[in-house]
Amino acid sequence: MTDAALLLTNQIELLHSIAIEHLNAATTLENIEAVRVEALGRKGKLAEISKQFGKLGAEERASIGKLLNAAKQELESKIEGRAAALQARVLDARLDSEWVDLTAPAPGVRPGSLHPVTKVQQELEDVFVSMGFAVLDGPEVESEYYNFDALNIPADHPARDMQDTFWVKDGRLLRTHTSPVQVRGLETLGPPLKMIAPGRVFRNEEVDASHEHTFYQLEGMMVDHDVSVAHLIYFMKTLLSAIFHREVTVRLRPGFFPFVEPGFELDIQCLICGGAGCAVCKQSGWVELLPCGLVHPAVLRAGGADPEEWSGFAFGLGLTRLAMMRYGIDDIRLFTGGDLRFLRQF
Ligand code: PHE
Repeated sequence: MTDAALLLTNQIELLHSIAIEHLNAATTLENIEAVRVEALGRKGKLAEISKQFGKLGAEERASIGKLLNAAKQELESKIEGRAAALQARVLDARLDSEWVDLTAPAPGVRPGSLHPVTKVQQELEDVFVSMGFAVLDGPEVESEYYNFDALNIPADHPARDMQDTFWVKDGRLLRTHTSPVQVRGLETLGPPLKMIAPGRVFRNEEVDASHEHTFYQLEGMMVDHDVSVAHLIYFMKTLLSAIFHREVTVRLRPGFFPFVEPGFELDIQCLICGGAGCAVCKQSGWVELLPCGLVHPAVLRAGGADPEEWSGFAFGLGLTRLAMMRYGIDDIRLFTGGDLRFLRQF
């Protein structure tokens, strides 16, 4: 072999083994591509060697050419193999990271929680049931008769203006209070009776922090022989201490409702601001919580009870407002807003 042929042979072997070494060290597809370009590219090391073939004789050129081609082919296939293995590994890693067990059971129904109004309502129902009161229901779409006339509020009575009403096309209305259940209860159960009627009521109100078009009340009524204001006050005190579990400052004012006589307005000192004044109490320090009074003779008569024989008290508790006081909620709109961050707290 000529010196030139020997030199080229050594060069080819050296380049081949260096390329293999680089290839083994390559950890990314970019590394591998760099090895390929350096060794096999058009301006690569092996291409350079083939330029020196001019120095060789025909025979040597053929045998060294073979050697060069073999080195080339071997490198090519090694490079391809490495790249394929690396690609497979990258894919495996991706599939591993994206793996989902499709046979695993679904996470299931997340436990919900009771709405704050529901909680207060259930607590009050327990208190009243323990005192012998029946829990009654009444329709939310109510007749004009039960919502107004039977409660001593005739069509031309200015008291109808106190409650802005949603009317239904057929002449019925969305009940503006739970008081219609007073007369319905009397009709169904007859005196003597003790009943409460919690439920949803509706008023055509401008909505703000303390007014909603849809809210909850709890009506209460007791009809028996010789029921007086003393009974009324006793039950109201029992009720308030049961709800608030603490001393609440109250005040009684005369209040006008056509279906009670005498009528009162029971206020409690605002539990949000402690009486200093805030949005909920309209800066007054007091919250109207409990209108009440002795059942008007006209209402007893409408319910089929003789006012000469029977008397009673009635009250209408704002359940929504009570829940605001109880939980320190300062915006009534949260109750119907459907915000789970709010609701999950209860
Ligand atoms: N129904 C009255 C209202 O919603 C409240 C009330 C009930 C007043 C019972 C007196 C007696 O405003």
